[in-house]
Amino acid sequence: LNIAVLISGRGSNLQSIIDNVENGYIPNACVSVVISDKKDAYGLERAMDHGINAVFIDPAAYQSKEKFETALLDVLARFSTDVLLLAGFMRILGSNVIKAYSNRIMNIHPALLPSFKGLHAQKQALDYGVKIAGCTVHFVDEGMDSGPIILQKSVPVLDSDTEESLSERILAQEHIIFPEAVKLFAEGRLDIKGRRVHIS
Ligand code: GRF
Repeated sequence: LNIAVLISGRGSNLQSIIDNVENGYIPNACVSVVISDKKDAYGLERAMDHGINAVFIDPAAYQSKEKFETALLDVLARFSTDVLLLAGFMRILGSNVIKAYSNRIMNIHPALLPSFKGLHAQKQALDYGVKIAGCTVHFVDEGMDSGPIILQKSVPVLDSDTEESLSERILAQEHIIFPEAVKLFAEGRLDIKGRRVHIS
């Protein structure tokens, strides 16, 4: 299974995928390429530290989103990508990419979807006053944070929480459920039935 990971920044979720491929938790898999839309994304260094191809695709070098995504599709094809992981990638993918990798793109989101889509999900949860927060791994469709849900994990919200402390508690769970979802995919145990993902 050739895994491609799209990032825009820190890459701690990328790291959890790399570690779980290297230690065999995710079987028969290889992180073939890490692609960033930000030149200075720390995740590119993490990739290089593990001997993984690290590619920066500069959005400013393309006249349109379609052309940027054509370049992206070229790289994905070059590395024979089987599954595409969005790990802190801060762009919405267009229909050409979604169609090319239909039911093979996964995203990690730091909220219990369908609550708190979009940016600053942890702050949205705090501001709303929910008592339970969490994270979601889902298949990606053409909406934002809207595809079929694979796994979710909840965490408590404490009275003392700040955006930082809540984000940290959620992130620890992200690092568990994203590799778990990829493992299930690698083992062929995910079956999409409409909006529902059945796990065998
Ligand atoms: C994570 O909170 C993830 O849920 C969200 O963006 C953040 C990326 O963090 N989509 P990192 O780059 O994986 O450390």
